[in-house]
Amino acid sequence: MSLFGTGAGSTRTDQTLGGLVTGQLLRLCQVSGLARTDAETYADVLTDSLGAVAERPLDLPPPYRSFLSDDSTPVEYSLSFRPGAPPTTRVLLDPGCGAGGLRENGRAGLGVVRSMARRWGFAMDRLDALEDLFFPSEPEGPLALWIALELLPGGVPKAKVYLNPSASGPARAAETVREALDRLGHRHAFDTLPPADGYPFLALDLGDWEAPRVKIYATHHGLPATAAGGLCRMESGPDGETLEEFLRTVGGFDDGTGDLGAPPAARFDRRPVLSCHSFTRTTGGPTGFTLHVPVRDYARDDGEALGRARAVLGGHGLDAAVLDRSFAAVTSRRPEDGVGLIAYLALAHEQGRSPRVTAYISSEAYEVRLPAVPLSPQGVSATGQPEPVVDATAMN
Ligand code: TRP
Repeated sequence: MSLFGTGAGSTRTDQTLGGLVTGQLLRLCQVSGLARTDAETYADVLTDSLGAVAERPLDLPPPYRSFLSDDSTPVEYSLSFRPGAPPTTRVLLDPGCGAGGLRENGRAGLGVVRSMARRWGFAMDRLDALEDLFFPSEPEGPLALWIALELLPGGVPKAKVYLNPSASGPARAAETVREALDRLGHRHAFDTLPPADGYPFLALDLGDWEAPRVKIYATHHGLPATAAGGLCRMESGPDGETLEEFLRTVGGFDDGTGDLGAPPAARFDRRPVLSCHSFTRTTGGPTGFTLHVPVRDYARDDGEALGRARAVLGGHGLDAAVLDRSFAAVTSRRPEDGVGLIAYLALAHEQGRSPRVTAYISSEAYEVRLPAVPLSPQGVSATGQPEPVVDATAMN
């Protein structure tokens, strides 16, 4: 048996990347209650956006070392839960992943955003106003442009574009974020943000949003769970206790599973927690605050990650059944047989709305990371080996 979830009976060798993600997306849409016709429209949008890369056989290596996911699949799903409504399915993609080089990746990505804007009548002015900041002639950094689509009923998605503040070098990232906020009319907004180690993304809502946001993501290395409340700059935002409890649950700091055998430390000393502040009006401070926790680096396996997701959802009065079914929609492997399918868990607060919980779900087109090896008391892995990884193509 393969660890790979190609779903309905097909083998990996006869599959393309586009074929795999189409199946995953259709099954995810079905699980979250989207009509088949809408799901098919969105699957076509996804493969069209990937271009020639969609035709790439899965037994070839990833087209590009995309930072979008750990195994370089240029696609990641997410499910966003809010009380009283079915969860929204979303898909994040790296539209320029076939372009060969960061500069070309950005150009190709912009082309895909422009064609979406024409198709659905999105205004491009806010992105146009930032083009020189984020698409210099010799870009640097881990990405150029990503697109996220919220797959709404009716076949017209809401779109978000993710840009790289380090495009002109990491030393310029803070200045780039400040300048972008200024250009979008959010003067002095940068000064309201908490201290951070870096700014990995700036995101813009494009399309038919009630109140389009600009979102600033920040990294916080080594964050203690107790420091969560101190990061939030949103007016009448969540209290520190709510945020700390979210971090403790997702980090596994309370259930004895989060330390992987190492001495317990209630801080995130592996892949960092990200905060995200959003701005929707031209005066005043942020109107939204989100914490993103890379649960995959703090859990032994996806069984544990799912357990923590269920605890967070339950604690916010949300039903986790769809998440369990979503796991099976993207893979046929058991949750305990790998780690990283649940990449992040996030808790989002927006003014005037109930809190949302989002689970980010990897495609695992190329690799499944094997369950984490517990650390010995000396802090070295029991086998002395680096983290095990299973190559998808070796498993056919
Ligand atoms: N793969 C990257 C990371 O782990 C970027 C990323 C993908 C990400 N999906 C995300 C970051 C969801 C935050 C939330 O950081």
